[in-house]
Amino acid sequence: MLSAQQSEYLSVADVYELIKPELTCVEKQFLSQIESDVKLVQQIGKYLHLSGGKRIRPALLILSARVLGAECLENVIRMATVVEFLHTATLIHDDIIDDCDVRRGRPSVRSRWGNDIAVLSGDWLYMLAFENSLKERNFEILDILTRVTRQMTEGELIQLELRGRLDITEQEYLEIVHRKTAFLISACCEIGAILASASYREQALMREFGFRIGTAFQLADDLLDFTSSTEKLGKPAANDLREGKITLPLIYLREQAREDVMEKLRCAMNNSDLASNTSRDELLGMVESSGVLVRVRAELSRYAAEAQQLLTSLTDSVYKRALYSISNFIIGREN
Ligand code: IPE
Ligand code: IPE
Ligand code: MG
Ligand code: MG
Repeated sequence: MLSAQQSEYLSVADVYELIKPELTCVEKQFLSQIESDVKLVQQIGKYLHLSGGKRIRPALLILSARVLGAECLENVIRMATVVEFLHTATLIHDDIIDDCDVRRGRPSVRSRWGNDIAVLSGDWLYMLAFENSLKERNFEILDILTRVTRQMTEGELIQLELRGRLDITEQEYLEIVHRKTAFLISACCEIGAILASASYREQALMREFGFRIGTAFQLADDLLDFTSSTEKLGKPAANDLREGKITLPLIYLREQAREDVMEKLRCAMNNSDLASNTSRDELLGMVESSGVLVRVRAELSRYAAEAQQLLTSLTDSVYKRALYSISNFIIGREN
C-alpha cells in the first residue's frame, strides 16, 4: 500500500518542470561538448541535440541525486550529460543494426549521412562520454560506465545471434533486455546516488530501483512496437518482427503453441517474401486478440511496482514522488 503522500503522483510535465534548471544545464553542456574542429561532427552533434528525445536517463540521474540530498552540483550535470551521450551513441549504432531510417521523428543518422559516418559518429560520442566521465576522477563511476557499455554491446550481439530464432526462451529474452537497457538505467540511478555521497545501502537501493524500471522500460518499448504507430513513436512501429526479433508478446503467443502461429511467424521473418507482409499483419492481429498484451502489461507493471516498493524507505520528498511518478509513466507510456 502506498502512503497518501506517495500516492500523489506528479504528471510527467510536473516531473520535468521540477528539474528544469538541471535539465537546461544538461542541454547547454550537450551543445558545448559537441563543439569540434571537425565540421561534420559538429553538424551531426547539433542535429542530434535538436532531435531531442525524452532525456529520461539524465532525468533519472538528477532525481536520484536529488532524492538523496545532492545539491545541483556541476558533477551531477556532467554525469547526466554523459549518460545521454552514451545512450545516443547506442541509438546511432542500433539504427544501423536495425536498418532503421527514422529516429525521434526525423531521418536517423544512418539514413541522413550513411552507415560509415554513422558508425564513426557513434564511436565519437562514446569517446566523448568517457572523456567527460574521466573528469570526475572517480573509479567507481568509471567502473560502472565501462561495464554497462560492454554489457550493452553484448546485449546487441546476443540479440543478433538469436535473430530469427523462434525458440528463444523468456530467460534469453530478458537477458537481452537487461543488457541493452536495464543496466544503463540502473547505472543512472546508482551514479546519482554516488554523487549524493549516499550510504552503501542507499546506493544499492537506487541501483535495484533503476534495474527494475529499466527492465519495465524496455518491455514497454517492445510492447509499443506492437501497439503504437510510427507517428507516435517517432521510429518505425512493428520493426522488431520485421527484423526477426522475438519479444515478450510473441513469446507468450508462442506458448499458446498453435501451429498456425508458428507458421505465420516463420513466414513473417522472411523479408523477401511478399506473403511475409500479410503474415506480419495477421500476427499483429493475433497478438491483439489473444490476450497476451494484458499479460505483458501485467509483467511490466510488476517490475514497476517492485521498483516503487524499493523507494518506500527513502525520506519523503517531492523528488521521491517524482521517481514514483516516472515508474508509473513507464507503465503507461505512449512513446
Ligand atoms: C530508446 O530509448 C531505446 C530503448 C532503450 C528502448 P528512449 O525511448 O529513451 O529514446 P529517446 O531518447 O526518448 O529517443
Ligand atoms: C534498444 O533496443 C536499443 C539500445 C539500447 C541501443 P531497440 O532496438 O528496441 O530500441 P529502438 O526500438 O530501436 O529504440
Ligand atoms: Mg532498434
Ligand atoms: Mg524497440
